[in-house]
Amino acid sequence: MKEIRFLANTKQKSIENGVTTWSSPSNIALVKYWGKRKEQIPENTSISFTLNQCKTITNLTYTKKEDNLNFSFDVFLDGEKQDDFKPKIEVFFNRITPYLSFLKDFHFKIETKNTFPHSSGIASSASGMSALAACLMSIDKELNPEMNSQFILQKTSFLARLGSGSACRSLEGDLVVWGEHKSIVNSSNLFGVKFPFNTHNNFKNYQDTILLVDKGEKQVSSTIGHNLMHNHPFSQQRFVQANQNLEKITAILQNGNLDEFISLVESEALTLHAMMMSSMPYFILMKPNTLEIINKIWAFRKATNSKVCFTLDAGANVHVLYPESEKDSVLQFIKNELVVYCQNGHYICDNIGKGLEQL
Ligand code: DP6
Repeated sequence: MKEIRFLANTKQKSIENGVTTWSSPSNIALVKYWGKRKEQIPENTSISFTLNQCKTITNLTYTKKEDNLNFSFDVFLDGEKQDDFKPKIEVFFNRITPYLSFLKDFHFKIETKNTFPHSSGIASSASGMSALAACLMSIDKELNPEMNSQFILQKTSFLARLGSGSACRSLEGDLVVWGEHKSIVNSSNLFGVKFPFNTHNNFKNYQDTILLVDKGEKQVSSTIGHNLMHNHPFSQQRFVQANQNLEKITAILQNGNLDEFISLVESEALTLHAMMMSSMPYFILMKPNTLEIINKIWAFRKATNSKVCFTLDAGANVHVLYPESEKDSVLQFIKNELVVYCQNGHYICDNIGKGLEQL
């Protein structure tokens, strides 16, 4: 079924060519999206912190072409042509064709760069697809100048979701919810919405230091992992749990209870990986150093009463989350005890960000 409100508008101005550049960040889920239905509809509601430093910057050049029979585009990563990205973008263009009427009218040159390693378990698909969706919406806006900014934001998130589910949560800060939930007014399976409540000061400018345990390509992509939730023995219970956790974290983010935050976020991370380990076929994305880091964090917390905790994406890297008030002490702990477990000693210091930016 097509979402009528976002369908392509027929009354359009004409443009010949142009260029637009957007930067969009990655995000880190606190309650995880893992499992989806057709057309990128999530099985449960998820919520994420928007990041600040881990970004994709995409420059889209569009030139009117002779015919409008096919898509025509080239993709460059860090200035190098990347034909292996094309199939994913072709799928994306096919999915969004009903919503953008101009996709076959132009040749697109998509030039993109990341501030973090590609396929490192940091969701480059989230920042990449949201940046591309924002570029395409700039063209849509030029053709249909009457669209208001609220509608543009929703439609950008809607399109980004069709590229990669988690991408729909990258457009705004600090916290974005995706998926219908009774506790979140106006929440939707079709796009992300800003967390609608005041967040406690404990969570202001929360820190996320990403420990790069393994920078290689993932053995199992998120898309395959999501599909394995279809015949998974624990999936239904997991979707119920995630929606309950969303309700709990909605209260925690307002009341500032950091101990409850830690339990919920760490349990979500381990449950995500438990789902992978209990899929058929089963798989493990954590590495020995992922577990070393988790154990060190637990020991540090016990010894110091720190409120540091971890979460994981679909990869081996560890996101170390902590309040801004503990910035110096936790960073020191990371340097002293955790960097040794990172590939080539690499880590990225990030914090909560604001989302999309037009450059
Ligand atoms: C583990 O958004 O990458 O990061 O929709 O197939 O592109 P697709 O999947 P993707 O899945 C991300 C899953 C996760 C959890 C999360 O970000 O909520």
